[in-house]
Amino acid sequence: MPFYSTKVMDHFINPRNVGEIKDADAVGEVGNPVCGDMMTFYIKVKNNRIEDVKFKTFGCGAAIAVSSMVSEMVLGKTLEEVMNITNADVASSLGGLPPNKMHCSNLGADALHKAVKNYKDKQEK
Ligand code: FES
Repeated sequence: MPFYSTKVMDHFINPRNVGEIKDADAVGEVGNPVCGDMMTFYIKVKNNRIEDVKFKTFGCGAAIAVSSMVSEMVLGKTLEEVMNITNADVASSLGGLPPNKMHCSNLGADALHKAVKNYKDKQEK
């Protein structure tokens, strides 16, 4: 059993912003090549800022904690700020992850970045 920080346990047991936004402005979905787990982020954007964010994660406890943490980190941020958040930032905001669970932090920022790209693509059309 890997050792998880109190923050990871908190976000795993009581994840924030779980769910789906039916009329989302954009969606970002990624799969983890290491384990096959999936993460989807839904965003609403207003004045270039994340106005609302929800996620659905089919994955391990660390992946759920990562999703929850990312959702809290990006709420209210500009799209540029969101693009600057790295997977390592997310892991360190959670107080770190056990070495054998570091790959689980790879999905969070990637899924959000994909949602922002999806949003920008839609704006250009
Ligand atoms: Fe798949 Fe953690 S084991 S994301």
